[in-house]
Amino acid sequence: MDLTGAICVSVFALALLSLFPINAVARGGDRISFHSGAMNHSNGFLTRHLFEAKEPPFREEITWGYMSNFELEKSIKEFGKRCANISYVYSIGESVQGFPLWVIEISDKPGQKEPEPSFKYIGNVHGDEPVGRELLMRLANWLCDNYMKDPLANLIVEKVHLHILPSMNPDGFALRRRGNANNVDLNRDFPDQFFPINDVESMRQPETIAIMSWLKKKHFTASASLHGGALVANYPWDGSQDKRNKYYACPDDAAFQFMATVYSRSHHNMSLSKEFPGGITNGAFWYPIYGGMQDWNYIHGGCFEITLEISDIKWPKAKELDVLWEHNRMSMLTLISSLVKAGVHGRVFSGETGFPLPASVIVEGINYTVTASSIYGDYHRILAPRGSYKVIASMPGYQTKSTQIQIGDEGVNLDFILNPDESINKEAKPKKGCECNCNCNCEGIGNTKLLQFFKRIHMELYIFAFLILLFLCLLFKRKSILKFSRHNRQYIGAKRSAVV
Ligand SMILES: *[C@@H]1O[C@H](CO)[C@@H](O)[C@H](O)[C@H]1NC(C)=O
Ligand SMILES: *[C@@H]1O[C@H](CO)[C@@H](O)[C@H](O)[C@H]1NC(C)=O
Ligand SMILES: *[C@@H]1O[C@H](CO)[C@@H](O)[C@H](O)[C@H]1NC(C)=O
Ligand SMILES: *[C@@H]1O[C@H](CO)[C@@H](O)[C@H](O)[C@H]1NC(C)=O
Ligand SMILES: [Zn+2]
Repeated sequence: MDLTGAICVSVFALALLSLFPINAVARGGDRISFHSGAMNHSNGFLTRHLFEAKEPPFREEITWGYMSNFELEKSIKEFGKRCANISYVYSIGESVQGFPLWVIEISDKPGQKEPEPSFKYIGNVHGDEPVGRELLMRLANWLCDNYMKDPLANLIVEKVHLHILPSMNPDGFALRRRGNANNVDLNRDFPDQFFPINDVESMRQPETIAIMSWLKKKHFTASASLHGGALVANYPWDGSQDKRNKYYACPDDAAFQFMATVYSRSHHNMSLSKEFPGGITNGAFWYPIYGGMQDWNYIHGGCFEITLEISDIKWPKAKELDVLWEHNRMSMLTLISSLVKAGVHGRVFSGETGFPLPASVIVEGINYTVTASSIYGDYHRILAPRGSYKVIASMPGYQTKSTQIQIGDEGVNLDFILNPDESINKEAKPKKGCECNCNCNCEGIGNTKLLQFFKRIHMELYIFAFLILLFLCLLFKRKSILKFSRHNRQYIGAKRSAVV
């Protein structure tokens, strides 16, 4: 082996490594990762057609008065024109048959990023459950008509970014059936936490892929999908590890019960249900499903999603839609506004530079991490009201901070200013007795300046040493290249076998 070559490589590696910690501080938090595993589309085993027996045979007349896919598209585009200053219409992908999956964003700054929570509503996940797509268009129009008139409409437009996907499954709607054009149940097509299903991306349906990449682009705080065939607000987990029907609580069980109750209490009569106490249910307790969208949102999307069954009959006569809208209107609105009115919200900044940090925010005793956005450092953490919580913000390269908060019936605002972690810069003078709280700027600032000064001197020394070594390496290089090529010719056979 070539000695000078080895020395050069080690020198470069060392030089790069010693520069590394300084850069690492600027890096963001964890990214979403997907498990890879064997694919098994054992649909018969995983799909349940729970309500099929209840439904009468399909009569085409029942679709009269419902918007066709083309009418829905037209209605979305007309909405975009009529309410142009508070909306932005975009598509997140296409169905199997090439129908665009249109989304309406409603906000006073549509299409822009703001330090505000985002909420999404998804309708028509199952093709034969079309009430949601109709009600979502009514919701969008209600917000447009009542903005600047109604305080709830103002709150939603001004303090939330609401994204509405009226139909996730336009092909299933056109075919009047549950599955999409490939007859796959889209609410069983997501990667699962317990079983290795749907783990191969190329095997997923385009509608599922569109939702998954939408969640990677947008930082949703919470969401709900709309279904039919029952009257209940369903929350995670949807699956249980042993496939048994039992209450299977996720870490945020209290927050999810709160969200589901917000919906059921504001509904005409969901909370009066005889089948479901309070009109809410844990998914696995009702019947476990695997590959569902709800659990995937919570685990991989950082988004608190619930599943709403909003009408006992999947496809009621169109003349009942106005009544169903009235029954669900307040629920749909208060669920969105609960985002702003509950939990803990704030921003995380660097005490050194003042820039926002994409920090991790956790609550003691709840095994779940919410990540602040990288642009504004804003985080939005739903928590059940009336409780005491210890909120902890952390970021690699910074000192972790925590604060105890009391949440009453209103949400709490809490900003964090994180100071650089000095234990990774041992040359800095150890400081003592500066217990910085969230808002104080004591001695810490002066120390930070000193630290930066040392860091800069350090940097210059490194660069100087680096350049000298580079020069030496180049000097040796000419000789080594000659030697190396000779070796190469000689041992080409042996070399190849040594490489595995
Ligand atoms: C898929 O599941 C079925 C039924 O559970 C089983 O018989 C089959 O061997 C599985 N296939 C693979 C590739 O794991
Ligand atoms: C939207 O337009 C209405 C009517 O022109 C106006 O009153 C309102 O301030 C506008 N809203 C925004 C967010 O621009
Ligand atoms: C809710 O009201 C509707 C219509 O008024 C009725 O058909 C339904 O049975 C009621 N459900 C419950 C749980 O009370
Ligand atoms: C926390 O949740 C993760 C999965 O998100 C899990 O791997 C880990 O074991 C959990 N930790 C505890 C203490 O329950
Ligand atoms: Zn459904």
